[in-house]
Amino acid sequence: MKILLLAGDGIGPEIMAEAEKVLMALNLPVTLDRGLVGGVAYAATGHPLPPETVEKARASDAVLFGAVGDFRYDHVERHLRPEQAILGIRTALGLFANLRPAQVFSGLEEHSALRPEVAAAIDLLIVRELNGDVYFGDKGMRQTADGQREGYDVMSYSENEVRRIAHVAFRAAQGRQKRLCSVDKANVLETSQLWRDVMIEVSAEYPDVELTHMYVDNAAMQLVRNPGQFDVIVTGNLFGDILSDQASMCVGSIGLLASASLGEGKLGLYEPIHGSAPDIAGKGIANPLAMILSLAMLLRHSGGDEASAARIEAAVAKVLASGARGADLGGDMSTSALGDAVVAAL
Ligand code: IPM
Ligand code: MG
Repeated sequence: MKILLLAGDGIGPEIMAEAEKVLMALNLPVTLDRGLVGGVAYAATGHPLPPETVEKARASDAVLFGAVGDFRYDHVERHLRPEQAILGIRTALGLFANLRPAQVFSGLEEHSALRPEVAAAIDLLIVRELNGDVYFGDKGMRQTADGQREGYDVMSYSENEVRRIAHVAFRAAQGRQKRLCSVDKANVLETSQLWRDVMIEVSAEYPDVELTHMYVDNAAMQLVRNPGQFDVIVTGNLFGDILSDQASMCVGSIGLLASASLGEGKLGLYEPIHGSAPDIAGKGIANPLAMILSLAMLLRHSGGDEASAARIEAAVAKVLASGARGADLGGDMSTSALGDAVVAAL
């Protein structure tokens, strides 16, 4: 398998180094390539997603992605900001389905922002649409008739976009507890009404899966009230972005959540759901576990290597159960010490 490593900005390179350690320890037949992405790519080439990086990704079986974002480039035009690299690569590679599992590791219940007994029940998967919505609609700045500045971003979904993510979500639910909750804002948004209609149409093909619907504001509330009620959640790009960060705090740390971004083919991109955390970059205190768990998802979904994926996940669970904690969980283990501990547990 050919894997492209895109470490990116901030803590990206530090956590990527730990994922690489784990990959090397598994001794799998893989070849590695590296590329530039984000602020580092902008500094070197003038663009956060250089064409060579996209070429390299297309020539790979999987992309392992660190994080992008660097406050030094917050002032540059939007299309050249580091964040555009991740948005651009998701669309360039047609990666429309984002899987964000959230589960409490045993021993971490006390670290959840929720009561331990509420947190312990969390075992859910957020399926977030990644190529559409208000993220990619027409956007800009204009002037109102009375001369005020007005920003706008158009929200839309076509039925095909909804249908393809619906199939991913229903299939994911079939592999779990067969309960799918579609999250929208159909009481206010036309985009959401179409979303809901198409979810119901597609559900006819999956009679074994129970489909329910929830408005996004209620979903945000239910996620902290009783997160154990959810199996698979399917939602649009913006709502999925927000709810997955919320889910991470229910689990204990955003440094623990991995994700897979998939398209029609085998090529996938795997990244922690957290960002580049420039405030702690270079200090050696970032939690590498979300990055390492993203490697597990890579081996499972693009590599078809369930055994290695499960081995990594078991090693991470063992490390956490042993009481190993980095700064995000109130401990003092460094980024590399945590990576070493996972390798030892393997
Ligand atoms: C995420 C991030 C990105 C997003 C940002 C960095 C553009 O928040 O992957 O959740 O909004 O999709
Ligand atoms: Mg986000």
